Amino acid sequence: MSITIVGGGAIGLATAWRAAQAGHDVTVVDPDPGRGASWAAAGMLAPVTEAHYGEEPLLALNLAASEQWPGFATELAEASGMDAGYRRCGAITVARDLDDQAALAELFAFQQGLGLAVQRMTGSEVRRVEPSLSPRVRGGVFASEDHQVDNRALVQALVRAAGRAGVTYDHRRVARIDCHGGRVRAVVTEDGHRLQGDTVIVAAGVGAAALPGVPEGVVPPLRPVKGQLLHLRGVPAACPRLGVVRGLEVYVVSRGDGRVVVGATMEERGMDTTVTAGAVMELLRAAWELLPGLAELELLEATAGLRPATPDNAPAVGPTEIEGLHLAVGHFRNGILLTPITARTVVAGLDGPLPDLMAPFSPDRFRTAAARR
Ligand code: GLY
Repeated sequence: MSITIVGGGAIGLATAWRAAQAGHDVTVVDPDPGRGASWAAAGMLAPVTEAHYGEEPLLALNLAASEQWPGFATELAEASGMDAGYRRCGAITVARDLDDQAALAELFAFQQGLGLAVQRMTGSEVRRVEPSLSPRVRGGVFASEDHQVDNRALVQALVRAAGRAGVTYDHRRVARIDCHGGRVRAVVTEDGHRLQGDTVIVAAGVGAAALPGVPEGVVPPLRPVKGQLLHLRGVPAACPRLGVVRGLEVYVVSRGDGRVVVGATMEERGMDTTVTAGAVMELLRAAWELLPGLAELELLEATAGLRPATPDNAPAVGPTEIEGLHLAVGHFRNGILLTPITARTVVAGLDGPLPDLMAPFSPDRFRTAAARR
């Protein structure tokens, strides 16, 4: 099969890699593969600490995705010769004051009710696990199955692995996707070049919402949710020992080699990716309240990305009503976590049914019954 993938973020690249492994002829169209939201992300693989009320089907998918990560990371390292920094580190969420403690107690009860692997800890217990926590921290919840990957190393490894598997990169911008007669016909680039093939997979993050040529309603509504993040650096001994330390307003991802990522805001301001002084101040303040030693680190970078969110905050993955047009969009806060499972699923869905776990996330679910007829 000849496949064009629109969007070279982590999901587009992993899908390209898997599709090429399955024997397809694959082109990824993206001016700068590996950038965008995948580059801005923090790389947490956090099905447990990011479990939210009312999102149980998504939780099942996230947990299954987390289980795929060790094998995926090993295979990617072999295929690319690069280490994507997958780190089995656990994550701790801590309470800074009595209000946080009450909120954390509720979160813990919710997580326990779902049968998730969480452990409640007192203030002195959390400080034993993470000595750099502020003496004011009152306690926390440890999630042993939440981990991290270095998202920037990940996309670089995917670019390499996909290239080695035979994927071609086209660095032009996409102008439109030609669809007529109920079938996808071509991806047309800004300079008028037509990439023709059997199948188009759209994995373009928030950009998927505004792709001319795709009939209305085929791509679900996608809203950009801006996240601002900071990159810090210091000697490893000055950084948190635990890979992920979270408060209720901030998370701190420590790579273990002196690099630390602090994130992230949640802002709905359209396509704006400006880094603001206020967000930098708030992120640093919230992180410093938990981990005062962070104030000594070098501030390397402040960045922003746009999370693509659907109306139910869950992804839209699989074939659409347009023959040959498939989607892998709307991964919101879980794009890096869901990369391996989405890639496998999309490729399975090219010539067969979607695996059961992904069935609730069909792109079709946002269309009204009338539109489906
Ligand atoms: N999953 C972390 C974030 O979206 O900020």
